[in-house]
Amino acid sequence: MDPRPQFLMTDAGHFDVCYQINPWMQPTAWRADPAACKAAAQAGSAQLKAALQAAGAHVETIGGVRGLPDLVFPANAAVVLDGRVLLARFRYPERQGEEAVFRSAFEKLRKRGLVEELVDLPEGLFHEGAGDCIWDKDRKLFWAGYGPRSSHGALAVIRRVFGQEVVPLELASDRFYHLDTCFCPLAGGKVLYYPAAFTAPALAAIRARVPEAQRIEASDEEAAAFCVNAVNLDAKVIMARAPASLRAKLRAGGYTLVEVDLDPFILSGGAAYCMTLRLDRTSAPAAAILA
Ligand code: ARG
Repeated sequence: MDPRPQFLMTDAGHFDVCYQINPWMQPTAWRADPAACKAAAQAGSAQLKAALQAAGAHVETIGGVRGLPDLVFPANAAVVLDGRVLLARFRYPERQGEEAVFRSAFEKLRKRGLVEELVDLPEGLFHEGAGDCIWDKDRKLFWAGYGPRSSHGALAVIRRVFGQEVVPLELASDRFYHLDTCFCPLAGGKVLYYPAAFTAPALAAIRARVPEAQRIEASDEEAAAFCVNAVNLDAKVIMARAPASLRAKLRAGGYTLVEVDLDPFILSGGAAYCMTLRLDRTSAPAAAILA
């Protein structure tokens, strides 16, 4: 088995911003210069892939599909843990066409042994994958966002399918519509998060489990730069271009920042974390894997 961290990405060749299903999306800005936006998107996606590889990861890339621009955000495709893939169901019709594409991509990954089993969400529920359900490897639990996109009812399904603790976090605003826009557990137990994105009970749930010394709070500016939407590999944190204030905070926490220009994707309301999907997370402690 390949010991490297495994990520899924989608080729950005068919990415664009042509509809608006979150307040960050700017079809008008994209239309002003589609060729330049497209070139910048391809460069940004390639840089992100290179950054993951430089951090020691392996990246599987699936092809894009014309007419499904948000396929570049595979974090929304599924929740994956212990080889089990709980397939997403998208809230908006604009993204529902992605479901079949991701299903067949996961089928292929299953045949190659990169994942083991595909599981469907019961009818009537929405869930947008790892964008709203983030595995915390230090605490051995899922943090699960709900409200704008994912249904609260999907959380019980996640609990049952994976047999793990799920901490429900209600998202308070349409601006931070996926949990990964405002919450990022980091290696060693620290958590980078944007408090204003959460309802009072959600904030209380975070603070009950993450002691103050482990909380890194993002400012409005840092959250709006999509920097909380980061990929963490050990001490490295890979994210969109960051304000100096955040660089300082993360450095003080012992992390090294890797910044990538992801501006075209921010025009769609996404950045580093949601452009990837981690495939090899396991709930087993490291010792058990070695045994
Ligand atoms: N335009 C996409 C949407 O609104 C962006 C998704 C970003 N994904 C994420 N997990 N934050 O669905």
